[in-house]
Amino acid sequence: MGFATDAIHVGQEPDPATGAIVAPIYQTSTYVQEEFGKTKGYDYARTAHPNRRALERCLAKLEGGAGAFVFNSGMAAIDTVFRLLRPGDHLIVSRAVYGGVYRLLTQLLGQFGLAFDFVDTGDVPAVKAAIRPETRMIYAETPTNPTMILTDIAAVAKLARAREITLVVDNTFLSPYCQQPLALGAHIVVHSMTKYLNGHSDAVGGAVILSRQEDMDRVYFLQRSAGAGLGPMDCWLVSRGIKTLAVRMEQHNANGMDVARFLASHPKVKHVNYPGLESHPQHELALRQQRGFGAMISFDLGSLEAARKLLNHVRVCSLAESLGGVETLISHPGQMTHASMPAEFREKVGITEGLVRISVGIEDVADLIADLDQALARV
Ligand SMILES: Cc1ncc(COP(=O)(O)O)c(C=O)c1O
Repeated sequence: MGFATDAIHVGQEPDPATGAIVAPIYQTSTYVQEEFGKTKGYDYARTAHPNRRALERCLAKLEGGAGAFVFNSGMAAIDTVFRLLRPGDHLIVSRAVYGGVYRLLTQLLGQFGLAFDFVDTGDVPAVKAAIRPETRMIYAETPTNPTMILTDIAAVAKLARAREITLVVDNTFLSPYCQQPLALGAHIVVHSMTKYLNGHSDAVGGAVILSRQEDMDRVYFLQRSAGAGLGPMDCWLVSRGIKTLAVRMEQHNANGMDVARFLASHPKVKHVNYPGLESHPQHELALRQQRGFGAMISFDLGSLEAARKLLNHVRVCSLAESLGGVETLISHPGQMTHASMPAEFREKVGITEGLVRISVGIEDVADLIADLDQALARV
């Protein structure tokens, strides 16, 4: 079946008890056993529940994985993937990665003996040079948040597979509608489902989609042992959001391109990072490995003061953390999403004081451009 059909139907069969076309929310912690030792497939909601199973089946299908597991945030999902490693193992991570991943590694997992290097994964020879005998995992965010640098997934997968290194891709910015890392050779995909998969800014969640049975067994063990699996109501919300993923992404792609072109033509904007623009150094790669350019854009206004003026004068765009919702969100990565990175590191990876990030929603694009235009006039 096609992507949109799978997004609407996989895991969403009519309820066998009543025929309800939408799955009920199984808001229960435990399940009564038919007789001692005999269940109907569920015993306790930390371990599994029907809304979680339904969402996991759908995600596995959309990403082309063998299985999926959902967690109570994107960070819980990413933390679980890092726990596939052991003390002494070495990990290579994209340099301008989401600030929460930087914090998790530098302030927590490093204390447990995990070694890691932040590398520009957009530069394949640099990734190759960073590989050590004890490297077990490469973690690539593509595009990177917020600098919009791409990793050539197929090329890095080739390097990784030749050395039995696991390649993990954070596919949050594009969703499986626009990019399918497993088909390009990655072993594991992670998502903040808080973003495009849910799409309506009303739930927090994360997902891990896997291609190998041994990883699935281990991630399921971690999910039920550490207890970070997603609850019924949030699974139900994300399942509902996913049904419109295909149409939402088409509109995000169209609006993203129009807003990027507008920003690139504006005299007050120094630089725009958007892989859909011919000026992006990896535009060809985006054409090759993505179906659509998405709606995440960052742009430089040259100074913190200029960024502040813009952010304080938008009216249709909302000044807020997060991304991927139907409504346009605008933020200052340096002082918001990436505040946990030291200022020198931010500067080194291109998260400048004047950098603004916009998650273009699916409102009428003329209204978004008019809003940005009037706010830029105040800069
Ligand atoms: C690319 C990316 N990955 C992971 C996360 C973490 O997800 P969550 O906020 O759902 O924990 C975020 C959050 O902004 C993100 O932007």
